[in-house]
Amino acid sequence: MSIGSCKLIDIPLKSDERGSLVFVEAGEQIHFNIKRNYILFGIKGDEERGHHAHKELFQLVMCLNGSFEVELFDGKKRKTFALDSITRGLLIGPMVWRVLRKFSSDAVCSVLASEKYDEADYIRNMDDFVTLTGDGQSVKFE
Ligand code: TYD
Repeated sequence: MSIGSCKLIDIPLKSDERGSLVFVEAGEQIHFNIKRNYILFGIKGDEERGHHAHKELFQLVMCLNGSFEVELFDGKKRKTFALDSITRGLLIGPMVWRVLRKFSSDAVCSVLASEKYDEADYIRNMDDFVTLTGDGQSVKFE
């Protein structure tokens, strides 16, 4: 899948005098059924997460608090998304390398995933990734 099919989506917000809530429904904001939710928080200093791609997995990356960046690479193109609002999520499809970085100290990142955790779905080696995606070249993320 190319970066072109990874996109920011609006997450509905309902606010009233009691406070606010956001929601995500399968078949509405996202096309996949949610089998897993994992949350990144307490990311130290300049630490980065990700540095891998998935063979089959679809994910919606949400910023529940603070801010961070997600850099994507599909074997040809790179694109960086800034996430700093609970009402904007980033959909990432299969075969897209992702790096999450520049976490603010209060950042909370929630990820809705189409499948349960499966190490066999990960591509953690950049050379393997560019071989699988075709005619691109390895990219150093720094
Ligand atoms: P890792 O893939 O390194 O996280 P990131 O994508 O942020 O770089 O995962 C860290 C550890 O957590 C690793 O031992 C695998 C485990 N893990 C699970 O058990 N379930 C999950 O849903 C995830 C995302 C990771």
